[in-house]
Amino acid sequence: MAESTKKATLNIDGTTYELPIYSPTAGPDVIDIRKLYADAGVFTYDPGFTSTASCDSTITYIDGGKGELLHRGYPIDQLAGKSHYLEVCFLLLYGYLPTAAELEKFEITVTRHTMVHEQMHYFFRGFRRDSHPMATMVGVVGAMSAFYHDSTDVNDAWHREVAAIRLIAKLPTIAAMAYKYSIGQPFVYPRNDLDYAANFLHMCFSVPAEEYNVNPIVARAMDRIFILHADHEQNASTSTVRLASSSGANPFACIAAGIACLWGPAHGGANQACLEMLREIGTVDRIPEFIARAKDKNDPFRLMGFGHRVYKNTDPRAKVLKQSADEVLELLGVDDNPLLQVAKELEHVALNDPYFIEKKLFPNVDFYSGIILEAIGFPTSMFTPIFALSRTVGWISQWKEMIADPQMKIGRPRQLYLGETSRDYVDIENR
Ligand code: CMC
Repeated sequence: MAESTKKATLNIDGTTYELPIYSPTAGPDVIDIRKLYADAGVFTYDPGFTSTASCDSTITYIDGGKGELLHRGYPIDQLAGKSHYLEVCFLLLYGYLPTAAELEKFEITVTRHTMVHEQMHYFFRGFRRDSHPMATMVGVVGAMSAFYHDSTDVNDAWHREVAAIRLIAKLPTIAAMAYKYSIGQPFVYPRNDLDYAANFLHMCFSVPAEEYNVNPIVARAMDRIFILHADHEQNASTSTVRLASSSGANPFACIAAGIACLWGPAHGGANQACLEMLREIGTVDRIPEFIARAKDKNDPFRLMGFGHRVYKNTDPRAKVLKQSADEVLELLGVDDNPLLQVAKELEHVALNDPYFIEKKLFPNVDFYSGIILEAIGFPTSMFTPIFALSRTVGWISQWKEMIADPQMKIGRPRQLYLGETSRDYVDIENR
């Protein structure tokens, strides 16, 4: 970490403490409070980490005011427009854009790891058919440590590399298997002649009874969705992966923890919730009713796909997806999709409403992604698994960065205890 050039001064009951301030390459300065408890005997209090940097990182940067998202310095709209998912994976994992030879080698390596252990097919059969694919994924990805225990030693750099490649390569296979299992169709093996996105579509939509040809337009849209979800600095699921790994737990268990966290409707589960909301609204004339509910403090309803902890101007991923939704639906000949019309009108109404303007609430990545995924043919239950498989590279890049950091410590937040102080146990007959 860079040397501290500035200091903050904290005064507690007349005693002054000097705290180093670090200046990042981008973003606000950070006050180092690591020695505060040892020196002053106090903790800091920040539920939800609204003002706390939990680590230093060189992977992803968000400027919430500008609506900017950079991976290793490259803007997300350039990556979505010019790159493809496996190149973005390389960039996130290794920190630079690969040469043609490096990219080819990386693509071959990932492609050669897409099959899962055959025994996993039987493992799937332990789940109920109507399990949500996210429930199945949490279980199966966690179980990868039982199937691939030759890459679970986090202190071995080669194990870490193999685990990273296995996770990136096998997550689409596992997500597609979870889907096939939920609809009672046979599992489809990966095909090495297809690229990452096309292969995922093949594993989801082909059946043994007839030939399935992947539509290149759909494959490109799928790839773009993968890119837009690839990483997002220290969000809830990434922080979960980092915290779980800080104890030295194996990478498969940690990614399963990340998937579990992502599932919540305030995080990755919002894409499913958003499409369900658009369906419930149904027609544009019902929009005012839902806007009123979202503004009503006595109603827990929130506009799903709206708002973000960091973006306070625009979510650059939503911008790309809105354009992509238009293109994909037109190319698929479903541009009169009523959900797209409801979404566009809802966005228009909300963006002109003083409540949403004042609270800086804008469409986020989940607002338009569901419309594209539905047009491709996915049921809503697959939206969050698709987010999870795309985000795996982000989780694993952040995990690798953390494990390689010599300053790594087990994560152990403190608390503001407001419970009872010590008291004597009361025997049951005396209570
Ligand atoms: N609809 C209506 N009001 C909202 C919404 C919304 N979607 N989001 C925030 N608000 C209000 C909220 O009621 C609060 O009002 P007040 O100040 O009067 O109490 C204010 O805006 C600030 O909200 P917050 O919950 O304190 O903000 P946060 O930074 O903790 O939460 C959020 C961010 C994304 C969880 C939240 O905006 C939300 O619940 N959005 C809907 C779910 C969603 O779309 N999640 C996907 C996020 S992007 C993808 C991802 O990260 O996985």
